[in-house]
Amino acid sequence: MNTRIVAVTDVRRQQDVLEEAGRILKEGGLVAFPTETVYGLGANGLDGKACAGIYEAKGRPSDNPLILHVANRPMVEHVAAEVPWMAERLMAAFCPGPITLVMRKAPQVPDSITGGLGTVGIRMPDHDVARAMIRAAGVPIAAPSANTSGRPSPTTAEAVYHDLKGKIPLVLDGGACHFGVESTIVDCTGETAVILRPGAVTREMLEEVLGKVDIDPALVDESAIPKAPGMKYRHYAPKVPLTLLEGNPSGMEDAFRKAIEQRQEKHKKVGIIASEETIAAIGGMIPKELLVSYGHRGDLPAIAANIYEALRSFDDADADCLLAEGTDEEELGLAIMNRLHKASGFQSIRV
Ligand code: TXA
Ligand code: MG
Repeated sequence: MNTRIVAVTDVRRQQDVLEEAGRILKEGGLVAFPTETVYGLGANGLDGKACAGIYEAKGRPSDNPLILHVANRPMVEHVAAEVPWMAERLMAAFCPGPITLVMRKAPQVPDSITGGLGTVGIRMPDHDVARAMIRAAGVPIAAPSANTSGRPSPTTAEAVYHDLKGKIPLVLDGGACHFGVESTIVDCTGETAVILRPGAVTREMLEEVLGKVDIDPALVDESAIPKAPGMKYRHYAPKVPLTLLEGNPSGMEDAFRKAIEQRQEKHKKVGIIASEETIAAIGGMIPKELLVSYGHRGDLPAIAANIYEALRSFDDADADCLLAEGTDEEELGLAIMNRLHKASGFQSIRV
């Protein structure tokens, strides 16, 4: 199959492209599209067979449910059995936006896309191209991140193309994604809301709206089983082993020097993903092409936006191992560190 990438810069003037995407989706095909978090790989969310194509293209385990993307409120009513009060408040505060709300599913949502769960994750993306595409399709769009299963999520159309070329007919190119990490997933089916995956809508922001909000214990305890099935898989992984350096920023530069020396003594080529500050301090130890900055230390929005591209940039690099700098775990840092812990398979050095 030939995979086309089409830039969409003006939704109103490019209705023809969106209509084509809508047609492909209605006919049971797949289209990759931009959102404010990461690129999604979409299919008609009410068509189990179309969604089976998503699992096949990504190589995704079939017990891992898909999020349904909607363009407006009536579509929410169509796929949720009922909208709990917590979801109601969170939608008023954050939708459209980088949040997915888990609710009980309506009967017309196929079991094959919810991994057999009685619930469904619903998300209204804050991206013109995404919502225009969903409107053109006229159905809720099931979409995971548009990467090969296990790999870092794509934040550019090129990254989607890298993973899925030949497997899908069309990639809508909306440029780089604004947030760069996937949506916050909040389970709204119980007494208290529970964060199943941290994202750009932070715990602090959710608590302002709902009062108390819990965190799935699996996000802090590696041995607990996560409630979002997809969170149990090793994920976001670069092609070579990654070790995370986490802890006190004032000790970071020395910790990097030591970790680099230990690896270089064993003749390992070390790649680095770190802050501008760390890179300035260790630069001389590593060839330039193996140094990737994710932004200034503490600039969490920039780090979130750059982290997946940084991981992907080592795909074709001549490194044997990677060292990455952690951030603190407050606010957006919780989402960044969640992804880095997974990318490292929980291999970390405490600083
Ligand atoms: O930002 C995002 O959410 C992106 C963009 C494309 O919208 N999508 C995304 O989808 O990250 P995906 O499939 O890569 O991750 C979905 C996560 C998985 O961990 C899955 O297990 C969980 O959501 N999930 C989906 N439905 C669920 C449900 N009913 N209950 C619990 N977890 C669910
Ligand atoms: Mg994903």
